Amino acid sequence: MTTLTLSPGPLLGVSAVPADKSITHRALLFGAIAEGVSRVRNYLDGGDCRATLAVVRQLGVQVDAPAPGEWRIHGRGLHGLREPEEVLDCVNSGTTARLLAGLLAGQRFHSVLAGSEQLRRRPMARVVEPLRQMGADIAGREGGRLLPLSIRGRELAGLEYLMPVASAQVKSSLLLAGLYSRGLVAVREPGPARDHSERMLAAMGAPISRRGPILTAEAPAHPLAPLDLNVPGDFSSAAFLLVAAACAPGSHLTLTGVGVNPTRRGLLDALIAMGADITLDNWGESGGEPTGDLRVHAADLTAITLGGAEIVTLIDELPVLAVAATQARGETVIRDAGELRVKETDRIATTVAELRKLGAQIEARPDGFVVSGPTRLRGARVDSHGDHRLAMALAVAGLLAEGATAVQGAECIPDSFPGFAQTLARLGAAIH
Ligand code: S3P
Repeated sequence: MTTLTLSPGPLLGVSAVPADKSITHRALLFGAIAEGVSRVRNYLDGGDCRATLAVVRQLGVQVDAPAPGEWRIHGRGLHGLREPEEVLDCVNSGTTARLLAGLLAGQRFHSVLAGSEQLRRRPMARVVEPLRQMGADIAGREGGRLLPLSIRGRELAGLEYLMPVASAQVKSSLLLAGLYSRGLVAVREPGPARDHSERMLAAMGAPISRRGPILTAEAPAHPLAPLDLNVPGDFSSAAFLLVAAACAPGSHLTLTGVGVNPTRRGLLDALIAMGADITLDNWGESGGEPTGDLRVHAADLTAITLGGAEIVTLIDELPVLAVAATQARGETVIRDAGELRVKETDRIATTVAELRKLGAQIEARPDGFVVSGPTRLRGARVDSHGDHRLAMALAVAGLLAEGATAVQGAECIPDSFPGFAQTLARLGAAIH
C-alpha cells in the first residue's frame, strides 16, 4: 500500500497534464475496427487504458509503439476482430467494459468480459438492457446486471432508446453496436454527456449524426478510415491542479495543452462562477478536440449551487469540487448527482467520510452533498478506498490543510494520472 504525505503550500510554475483517458480508450477501440494503421501520439499510459490495450490485442489487433508515447494500431476492419481465447479482463475500467459490450455484441464470435472486484460491483444493466433490445445475446451475473458477462455475438436489429441517465459510456456502447445493426440506432440523451465518440467516429467516416439530443448510428457502407491524432491533455486530471492552485494562497499555475471540450469542462465554469481567477487562452485543436492553456491564480471563492443537466459535464470532478467548496464562503449544494454512487466507489459516501476526517463541514444527500465553508482543514490520515479520483481530491485537500495529511491507498492514482506526485513536487508541493 502506497501512502502520499502532503503539507500545505502553493503550486507555482507551468505543467502539461497526462493525456485524456476517455479519448485514449476510444482511439484503441475505434482504431481496432478501422481499415488500416492508426497513428496515435501522446496516448495515456495509465492503468485503465492498459486494460483496453491488452483486450484489443487479445482481439487480434497488433499495436506497436514505434516511439515513446506513440502507438500504431493495425486496424482489422469492421469484421476482422478475432475470437479471444481467454477471458477479457477490464480490470478497474468501466469505460472498457461498457464500450466493449456494445462492440462485441455484434461480432461473429463469443467473448467474456471480466473485471476486478471493484468493477464487478458496478452496474452493467445500463448497457445490457438496451443491447438485448437490439437482439444481443448476453448472459451474466444477476441476470446480466454484473460482470462477468458472456457475449455471443450475433447480428443486431435497430433501436430507439431514451437513455434513463446521461452517460457517455452507454451512448458510446450503443453507437458501436449500431455499426453492426441491420436498422438504425437512435438514442436520446437526457444531458450533454462527453461527445468524444461521436467526434472520433464521424472523423473516421462512420454514419453517425445528431439532431438536438438524438444521436443516430447505422452500419457503414464503407470501411472506417484510420485515425491520425494527438491526444489532448485530460481536463479531469487538470482539475486537481486547477483546484489546488485556485485555493492554495500564493499559487500561480499554467497548465498547457488541456482538452477543453464543452462537454468536459463544467468544473471550469463552476470555479469561475465561484470567483476563481482562471483564464483560458492559446486555443488550439488536437484530434478534433479543442485545447487551451489554463492560467490560475489563488483567489477567494464563494459557494455555488449545481444541479440538472450541467452535472454530467463535471461528474468526475465533483470530489475535488467538494474540496474547493470547503474553502468557499457559504453553502455549496450539489444535487442531481446520484450517478456518483456507482463510480469506482460510492463517491458521495467516500468523499463525505474522508473530507470529514480533515474537518470539512460536509453532509451527504441521496443525490449529492452540501458543504459549508470556508473551513480551516486539519491534516489527518485519510483513505482512497481504491478510487483514483478520491485519492487525488484528498491530496489536494492535503495541500490546503494545516499540518500533514497522509493519503493511504495512493497506488490507484496511476489508473488515470501517472506521475501525479512527481508533478505536484515539480510545482513546489511538499509531498513525499
Ligand atoms: C467516461 C464516461 C463517464 C465518466 C468516466 C469516463 C467515458 O462515465 O464518469 O470516468 O470515457 O465515457 P458515465 O458514462 O458512466 O457517465
